[in-house]
Amino acid sequence: MRNAVDLRVDLAGVELKNPVVMASGTFGFGREYGQFYDLSELGGICVKGLTAAPREGNPPPRIAETPMGILNSVGLQNPGVDAFIAQELPFLRQYDVKVIANISGNTPEEYGEMCEKLSEAGVDMIEVNISCPNVKAGGLAYGTRPELAAEVTRMAKEHSAVPVMVKLSPNVTDITEIARAVADAGADAVSLINTLRGMRIDIATRRPILKMNTGGLSGPAVLPVAVRMVWEVAGAVNIPILGMGGVAKGEDAAQLMLAGACAVAVGTACFADPYAPLKVRDGLAKIAGEQGLDKVSGLTGSVRPW
Ligand SMILES: Cc1cc2nc3c(=O)[nH]c(=O)nc-3n(C[C@H](O)[C@H](O)[C@H](O)COP(=O)(O)O)c2cc1C
Repeated sequence: MRNAVDLRVDLAGVELKNPVVMASGTFGFGREYGQFYDLSELGGICVKGLTAAPREGNPPPRIAETPMGILNSVGLQNPGVDAFIAQELPFLRQYDVKVIANISGNTPEEYGEMCEKLSEAGVDMIEVNISCPNVKAGGLAYGTRPELAAEVTRMAKEHSAVPVMVKLSPNVTDITEIARAVADAGADAVSLINTLRGMRIDIATRRPILKMNTGGLSGPAVLPVAVRMVWEVAGAVNIPILGMGGVAKGEDAAQLMLAGACAVAVGTACFADPYAPLKVRDGLAKIAGEQGLDKVSGLTGSVRPW
């Protein structure tokens, strides 16, 4: 019998016991999914996007189905960074899983303040969201302009005692330009992709389905875009990549790793199947084993482009 594949991966100095991380905003703070399985089975959890003050998010309807995906305009509903530290982090700390705090700020200074609080509170890593399409302030405004993305990254790095990963938006002409800007500004890793801006319209009422008119597209429909962007970014920067966008099974995750990701995040797939992340993990192990690898990390960046 072949030896088991080593599933451990290194993401900017943070060792994950397997490459499967939960994508921010699709797993809350883990409490609901913790009723299905032991959260220690996961490599990491990116928690719901945190802001300096609590937010109620956008008005409903804010989720709409699409072919092979969903549109959402949730708009960073969260209890705020202080409540997360007081109430949610102790819950997550019961498990042997890396906790990645996802943050969104209105100003670079606000990103800095949150990084300081979260590092002190002992999260394992900070994911700086500069790519939320569903909020007016901060969010996408930072993620589409290289100089602003760099400024937020520098501020986060100055105020963090843990590795900083910057989450990139696919809603740009050239994602490598932003990736280079944040890498040059000191980012320890990048994660991509966030959702793609989209819209649905009810033809009978002539009203957009979402109350915010537009939203962010995620799910299997976006996988090929994610694979292409991870591949482009891997060719442009020398920092590790957390790949995501449409991962629902091992084969999807393997594509992102071959394109250059060290680890992968699973988001929308959990809504249809809470066990999706565990299936992705087991599927990846099977694929790596069948391909004769002793470590799953052997997949990373080993695509053979024509
Ligand atoms: C309902 C919902 C809420 C999300 N909230 C956040 C968020 O708070 N912060 C963030 O960085 N990304 C957020 N995302 C984006 C996901 O983390 C992920 O980048 C994207 O959905 C692509 O992955 P997927 O196709 O596996 O869902 C959200 C996505 C969805 C569907």
